[in-house]
Amino acid sequence: AAPQSPSGPTLFGLPMKQVSLITNSALILILHYSRVLPGVPNGHRYFVSTAVLLSEVLKLAISLTFSIYEVSRTLAPQTPATVLCEQIYNQVFSSDSWKLAIPAALYTLQNTLQYVALGNLDPVHFQILYQLKILSTAFFSVVLLGRSLSMKRWISLFVLTIGVCIVSLSSALYEDSADTMSIIYPDFGDHFFPRSKHELGQAVNGVGEVARELTKRSIDHVSSGALMAKRSASYEGINEDQPDASNALLNPSLGITAALVVVAVSGLTGVYFENVLKDSVSPVSVWTRNIQLSIYSLFLVLFVGVLFKDGAEIAAHGFFDGYNWVVWSVIVFQSVGGILTSLCINYADNIAKNFATSISFVISFPFSAAFFGFRMTPTCVLGTFLVVGSTYLYAKPDRKRGRPPPITIVQ
Ligand code: C5P
Repeated sequence: AAPQSPSGPTLFGLPMKQVSLITNSALILILHYSRVLPGVPNGHRYFVSTAVLLSEVLKLAISLTFSIYEVSRTLAPQTPATVLCEQIYNQVFSSDSWKLAIPAALYTLQNTLQYVALGNLDPVHFQILYQLKILSTAFFSVVLLGRSLSMKRWISLFVLTIGVCIVSLSSALYEDSADTMSIIYPDFGDHFFPRSKHELGQAVNGVGEVARELTKRSIDHVSSGALMAKRSASYEGINEDQPDASNALLNPSLGITAALVVVAVSGLTGVYFENVLKDSVSPVSVWTRNIQLSIYSLFLVLFVGVLFKDGAEIAAHGFFDGYNWVVWSVIVFQSVGGILTSLCINYADNIAKNFATSISFVISFPFSAAFFGFRMTPTCVLGTFLVVGSTYLYAKPDRKRGRPPPITIVQ
């Protein structure tokens, strides 16, 4: 395994764990938005398999870049590029690379089901169900890695799960931003860059409007909870008017089932990947493991998803049908989020990764307050308290119960 720096890994000076969470939350919101966005380009929503494939391509490119950088640092200056390529090739196609085929299949399933879940559930409900991965990860860590967790640690994991659920509920304002965007700026998502000065001005005004509307809605949301009902009604309204209604219909039971499978697969796969990363007889870098994972995933998505499942439709409509900048953002967030997850697993472990994710939720509140007028409510304070408290409890070393030596009575 890679060496662990005392302060933990950083990315551009920011703690990796926080960066990981911001990416994670942004992915959930934007992915949901991309699946229910009204007014999809060409009247057809994008194919999930193509998006999963492209995110794997991007992940492979990023991992390969870091791998080249890493290996080149171990070589003497003036070493020919062929030597570098040969070294990377030998590492990637080593005899134990087959081990990554299993997590590749499971992560591909997880990533695909995440689209199904977020296409059929509100992001807040998805977030809450998704938090169960804290428990599934702990369960698989105990069962598969043989880790032992004290009662105190189990309690802190349960408290963390409850705390994050409460926090997710009260931070529901984030996902309102997507709805608000589409109401205030209906063309939002149709093209990437404003094409004229006028459009730029419109976009800037739109963002200001969104911030104002968002503040108003967050207050409404937290105080009444009626927004949820309003939103589902508005989805139904959208569906009636849309030619691609079947794509936008929410099916909550399908969404819940998909989310629960995601939870189980997330715990199992994370633990398996950690085992491969840390159990190597000869240490293999996380970048090499990521390359191996991406290669298997790419083949799977290409043959099972793009060619077999969606092949006929893609041939009829085109690979990039329904793509807009929202979809491209999903792809980028999915790739960067995946890379950051792998680094968290490598430098810490799966359980710590989940704690980091939850803590970063709480850390994001000051930003939300500054940029979106987010208000801390008593519920939010309670959730934050539970998250921080459970993290403290989990990290606190177990007290060794020392028994007093037996008293010997000398007669
Ligand atoms: O929620 P969870 O932490 O299980 O999310 C795992 C995500 O990270 C998945 O989308 C998976 O594809 C990605 N990942 C990755 N590379 C790894 C490990 C995980 O892209 N080495």
